[in-house]
Amino acid sequence: MRPIAVLDSGVGGLTVVKQLLAELPGVPLVYVGDTARTPYGPRPAEEVRAFTEQIVKHLCTLDPTRIVIACNTATAVALDAIAQWCPVPVHGVIVPGARAAVRATRSGRIGVIGTEGTMRSRAYDVAIRACDARITVQTLACPAFVPLVEEGAYASDQARGIVEEVLVPMIAARVDTLILGCTHYPFLAPAIQQVMGSDVQLISSATEVAHEVRSHVGHVPEGTGVLDVSCTGEVAPFEAIVRRWLDVDVVVRHCVLPEGVRMD
Ligand code: DGL
Repeated sequence: MRPIAVLDSGVGGLTVVKQLLAELPGVPLVYVGDTARTPYGPRPAEEVRAFTEQIVKHLCTLDPTRIVIACNTATAVALDAIAQWCPVPVHGVIVPGARAAVRATRSGRIGVIGTEGTMRSRAYDVAIRACDARITVQTLACPAFVPLVEEGAYASDQARGIVEEVLVPMIAARVDTLILGCTHYPFLAPAIQQVMGSDVQLISSATEVAHEVRSHVGHVPEGTGVLDVSCTGEVAPFEAIVRRWLDVDVVVRHCVLPEGVRMD
C-alpha cells in the first residue's frame, strides 16, 4: 500500500504523525525530519522554501498518496508553490488550525504562537480573517520553544520556566483561544495550558491537519501500517524522542537527501 508522507524541520511533525496513527492506524507513513538544518524559524523564507522543495521531491520518489508539510514555517512560505507542481495532494498545517480556532472562540480574541518565520509571514492573520474579519488576532513568536523540544527537554522544569516567561504578553492579551502554530509546540502543551489557564482553549494545528487528511482517505485497512522514520542529522537523539513521543519501537534511519541538496 502507498504511504502518506510527512515532513518537518525536526521532531515537530511527530505531533501530526501521532494523530495520523490514531486516525489511520493501518496506513503506512513515511516521515522525514530535517534535523541537520533545524530550526527553520529564524531562516529566510527563500531558504525554507528551497529546503522544503528538496524534501518534497525526495518524498515524491517514495510514491506517496499525499504529502503533509507538518511544519507551519514551511507551510507559510512553500505550500502554494509546491502545490503547483507536486503530482500528489499536499496538505499544510495553517488553514486547518485557523478554521478550528475560529470555530472555538467565543470572545473573538484569538492568540497565535509560532516561529519568527511563521509570524513574519502573517499567514495565520490572513487565514483567520478569511474565515471571520471581525476577529482580533494577537501573535507572538516564541523562538526559545523549538530548541527545547529538539533537545528532548520539553517536560523539564526549565521548559516550564521558559514557557511562563515567554507567554507573558499572550496572557495580557486576554485571548480565549490559542493556536499552537508550530508543530513542535504540542510537546509543550501541558506547560502552555498551565501557564495560560484552563479557560483558554489550545488548538493544535497538528490535530487539525490529521482530521483533514482523514477526511480525504476512504478505506482504512485493518492492522498497523509500516512506520518509516528518518532524519537528516544525528539519529540517536532523534530516535529517543520518536520512541518516547509515539511509544513505538521504531528504528530511525539516516536520510540522505539527493545529490546537490545543501546541508548548511
Ligand atoms: N515545526 C515547525 C513549525 O511548525 C518548525 C520549527 C522550526 O524549525 O523552527 O513551524
